[in-house]
This record gives sequence, C-alpha cells and structure tokens, in this order.
Amino acid sequence: MGKVRICLIGAGRVAKVHGFNLKVHIPSSEVVAVVDNQLSIARKLAEELGVARVFKDYQKALHWDKFDAVVVTTPTFTHHPIVVDAAQAGKHVFCEKPITLNLKEADSMIEECQKNGVKLQIGFMRRFDPEFILAKRKVEEGVIGELLLIKSTGRGPGLPPEWAWDIQKSGGMLAEVASHDFDALMWFTQSRLETVEAIAANYRCPDLKIRYPRFYDTAVVLGTFYNGKMGVIDMSCPVGYGYDARVELLGSEGVMFVGDVRGKNLSWSTRDKGMNLLQYLSWRERFKEGYIAELQHFINSIIKNTSPLVSGEDGRRSLAAVIASNCSIQTGKKLRVTY
Ligand SMILES: NC(=O)c1ccc[n+]([C@@H]2O[C@H](COP(=O)([O-])OP(=O)(O)OC[C@H]3O[C@@H](n4cnc5c(N)ncnc54)[C@H](O)[C@@H]3O)[C@@H](O)[C@H]2O)c1
Repeated sequence: MGKVRICLIGAGRVAKVHGFNLKVHIPSSEVVAVVDNQLSIARKLAEELGVARVFKDYQKALHWDKFDAVVVTTPTFTHHPIVVDAAQAGKHVFCEKPITLNLKEADSMIEECQKNGVKLQIGFMRRFDPEFILAKRKVEEGVIGELLLIKSTGRGPGLPPEWAWDIQKSGGMLAEVASHDFDALMWFTQSRLETVEAIAANYRCPDLKIRYPRFYDTAVVLGTFYNGKMGVIDMSCPVGYGYDARVELLGSEGVMFVGDVRGKNLSWSTRDKGMNLLQYLSWRERFKEGYIAELQHFINSIIKNTSPLVSGEDGRRSLAAVIASNCSIQTGKKLRVTY
C-alpha cells in the first residue's frame, strides 16, 4: 500500500494539530482534501497544508472518493452522521473524542465501521503519551503493588468554542474536557466504572448560564469500578493558569504521579522574583507527542491491517460514564453507569 490518503473533515482547532502532524511527522500519510462547512476555514487550512481539494459538504468529499480514511474533527453533535456515512463509503475513521452524544449513536457508529470492514479509532491521545504509557507499564509490573485508587485532574486554560457551551451539542464540560480522564481511569484500572456520583458548579462564567442553563465549568466525579477500585476526577475550565493534566495512582505499596503542573523541565530563579517555572499552556503543547503517535498508530493500523488500540468501544464506555455523571449532577444521586 502507498501513502494512506486522508480527508480531514472539520478544519477547526484540533484539525489544525492533526493536519500538521500528518504532513510533517507521518510520511506514510498524505492529506488530500479538507472539508469544513465554513468554506473559508477549509480553504485556509488547505492552503497552509498545501492541499488542493476543498469541500464545504462532506458528502461531496465522500462522493469524490479519492482517499482511504477520514479524520473527523467536527463538533461532537455532528460525529454520528459523518462517521456512519464515511464507514458506509468504505473509509477508515479516526474520530475525535467524545465519540458522540448518546449510546445509540455510538452503537451505530461502531456497527457501521465493523459491517463495512473499516477501522475506527477514537482520539484519546493520552494513551500514546510517553509518560502515560510508562506509568501504565509500571502499574502492570506492580511497582506500586495493587492499584487501589486513581485520581485524574483535567483543567483547561480557556473555554472551548461556543457550540461546546451547549450541553445538548457537546455533552457538557465532562464530555468536552474530561472524556480523557474517564478513559484514563478505565484504562489504568482495567475495569469499567460501575457507579458515579458527580457535583458541578459554574464558578467562572456566570454569563453563560443565562444562555445555557445547564452549563457548568467545574465538576468532581467520584466513581467505583466493577473490580472494586475507586476513582476521582476533578475538571475545571477556563482556569487561565495553564493546561493541567495529572493522574495520581495509589497502590497498596506506594503511589505514582503522572504529569506535573510545573510542566517543563526548566526553571530559573532571580534575586527579586523567586523561582520561575515553565508550565504547559495548552493541550497541543502538553500532548504534542501523543497527538503524533495516535495518528501514526491509526495510519499503521490501516497499512498493517491491525485493530487500533483505542477502539469505538473505548469511546463508548467513556461516553457512558459521562452521561451517568451528567445525570448525577442533575439528580444529586449516585448512579449506576448504563453501558
Ligand atoms: N483530543 C483532544 O485533545 C481534543 C482537543 C480539542 C477538541 N477535541 C474534539 O474535537 C472536536 C472538534 O473540536 P474543535 O475544538 O476543533 O472545534 P472547532 O469548533 O474549532 O472546529 C470544528 C470545525 O468543524 C466545522 N464544522 C461544523 N459542522 C460541520 C459539518 N457538518 N461538516 C464539516 N465541518 C463542520 C466548523 O466550521 C469548525 O471549523 C470536538 O469533538 C472536540 O471535543 C479534541
């Protein structure tokens, strides 16, 4: 097989990261078309990437047909129809998290990909981050004994785009920001969340509550797992101070920390200012290597005809936990997660 030809569907924030990673870091791939329903946005990214074909309507791109796979980075509420149509057109699918908004849609996305013999990978790039991979291996080797409790902190510097403020379109900030944390919890514990109990508040964006009554910017989720472990997620955005993704794993024989708010390995001290440390300011920066590695993995799985390590089912179980947590926020009850 020659280069895997990619059509980017969506040309916004994360599309730019994926587009440049494919172009610069993954020579076994080639971006051949860019789609965005705002044509000027598609044109701009296509120009930056040196891509000739631009489409406003993804159906027209599927009809054009001169590619092998799609990278879907449109807003969450559009993932379902696009992934189903792409699968039916025989295209392999890399779809950003969260997979979609409800389990019925997730099921049909997974089913259509299976039925049409195409790969489906969900964008949980933390699974490809060198620190997360090493931590997972060390936990499996038993360096902290038996894993008992996992805490995941996910905080973003700014607000996502406006469509994401509407819980009907994004699944709320637990879906938009904390999907990764839910996935990390279940990946590390090798189990599924059985119950969740969540609280949330809108501390930072009072204006948004007027237009989007269910908007929250900060949440805490307590979870129990089928294998008896415990989990905690704390999520907040926009925190302003940087992009803060940390996991703490408590075991019977010790503790492990993944990530650090201090970020980069450079610090300096001056007479008048005390200690200066460099933080990660964005998700692009913090998971730079993970974003490249996840796409390389997707391309390799097409070339080698292997199953992607992060599957549609992984996207679905993170979504199930998000849905139950949003419901817990509304009802004030501890709930069983329905898968
Ligand atoms: N993995 C990560 O770390 C990460 C980071 C950011 C966003 N995301 C996810 O990626 C997705 C996109 O997020 P974003 O921040 O890039 O959004 P965005 O709003 O910046 O970009 C989305 C783009 O899709 C276009 N679009 C909307 N509907 C379309 C349609 N039907 N057909 C074609 N184009 C359409 C919009 O015009 C926009 O340019 C979301 O699901 C989000 O949760 C993941």
